[in-house]
Amino acid sequence: MRLVTLIAVAALWPLASATALETGDAAHGKTLYSQCRACHMPQANSVGSKHCDLVGRKAASVADYNYSPAMQKSGLVWTPENLDRFLTNPAKTVPGNFMPFAGIAKAQNRSDIIAYLGTLTCR
Ligand code: HEC
Repeated sequence: MRLVTLIAVAALWPLASATALETGDAAHGKTLYSQCRACHMPQANSVGSKHCDLVGRKAASVADYNYSPAMQKSGLVWTPENLDRFLTNPAKTVPGNFMPFAGIAKAQNRSDIIAYLGTLTCR
């Protein structure tokens, strides 16, 4: 019986860690997004590109925004995992990109911002 429980726990473990990113708190992410607002707006380009419909689309794919060659060549798709990597250290994840932002050290804060980004639709 104990062995069965152990196997069940072992089987569920990877599932739990794979969904860790999706447990972000979008309301807290909205507050944290104030540090992005210096350069980004959800619905319009500013210093940075607009952020609506970001999650799931290809990097550098807002048609009327002038991206760096580095971002255009990154080949990234903005999955939650790639956003997490990028927001940890933008300069390291996409070397030579134009986003002058040091990164967000705390994993939970990154998850929260990514959850908020997921709520932004262009319509
Ligand atoms: C000081 C200005 C600045 C700040 C602050 C900033 N960004 Fe950016 N961001 C940029 C610029 C400029 C680009 C375009 C980069 C390029 O083309 O290399 C960019 C690009 C991006 C991209 C790629 C967008 C795309 O369309 O492919 C994402 C994602 C992003 N920023 C997220 C964020 C988030 C989330 C925050 C807040 C935690 C943030 N940025 C804060 C300036 C900024």
